[in-house]
Amino acid sequence: MEELTQTQLSSTVVWQSEDALSYLYHLDALDFLRSIPSDSVDCIWTDPPYLLSNDGFTCVAGKRVKVNKGEWDRSQGIEADHQFNTDWLSECYRVLKPAGTIWITGTLHVYLSVGMALLQLGYRILNDITWEKPNPPPNLGCRCFTHSTETVLWATKAPKGSKHKYTFHYQEMRQEAGGKQMKSVWKIAPAGRDEKQFGKHPTQKPVALIDRCIRASTNKEDLVVDPFAGSGATGVACLRTGRRFLLNEREPEYVELTRRRINAELKMGENQTPGVWVDEEVASWKSLAKSSHEQVRLLESKRTVDYVAKREVTAN
Ligand SMILES: C[S@@+](CC[C@H](N)C(=O)[O-])C[C@H]1O[C@@H](n2cnc3c(N)ncnc32)[C@H](O)[C@@H]1O
Repeated sequence: MEELTQTQLSSTVVWQSEDALSYLYHLDALDFLRSIPSDSVDCIWTDPPYLLSNDGFTCVAGKRVKVNKGEWDRSQGIEADHQFNTDWLSECYRVLKPAGTIWITGTLHVYLSVGMALLQLGYRILNDITWEKPNPPPNLGCRCFTHSTETVLWATKAPKGSKHKYTFHYQEMRQEAGGKQMKSVWKIAPAGRDEKQFGKHPTQKPVALIDRCIRASTNKEDLVVDPFAGSGATGVACLRTGRRFLLNEREPEYVELTRRRINAELKMGENQTPGVWVDEEVASWKSLAKSSHEQVRLLESKRTVDYVAKREVTAN
């Protein structure tokens, strides 16, 4: 816990839980990971850019739309993309505890590179979970099968036969699978409207998917890290399962979305610890609000601040 304090002191913390055990950062993923002490993290759950925004088309709600998710999702070429994956996965390896595990989502655009980097860096791959989406969008080109799955690679830093044993709650998973060994194909619906009520993220993952990974591979109060947090789904899963977290996101609008979502989640859970805002950052968000849409969002944020303040007064 003493080591973690170093991270807590970072000026880029934009949100922290009142118990000062969970944080949200606004940094480039590599800078964020570099600020974390070695061998200090129990689990990493992350959904990195798939680097598939190549001006192609897909189908959303029956309409033909550009596949582009944002500049952050553009490929820089095979070599550069693999170097990027190797760099952040190398930092993940350093920060994980000796028996720590990492979960990484991906489609064919990224999991081959991520899998190769995992092997090159000395991780041991434990599973390639297939997340099956029940209602995938149709394939517009009709020149191949419609994509209906994503792969979630699960790996550990502990070599085979090492004294360090990674956590796997086998019995809990077996029970959840109706008394049989849980298979590596998981049919889970994509994030629904309720998970998007605080704003949308183009690649948002369902909390149920993250929740299962976290419950399978960590214990209560373990520390979970997500360097590419997006809409903060990992934070929500951690709050629901009683795990501590360090989230990071580089795009300001998604930092804001995450903060709103986490604060709302804290209000909903009776036994949760409310979050607090870091004042300087709130001021900088206000100056960022140029469009009326952003102003509405900031107003909502302000309500959350008021709520937290009220709770603090009541608690005193
Ligand atoms: C695939 S999305 C994560 C979505 C998230 N799992 C969710 O459920 O909302 C990847 C995120 O990484 C962020 N990102 C991309 N490159 C980054 C970088 N170098 N450092 C930090 N964040 C980055 C993007 O802004 C995007 O929100």
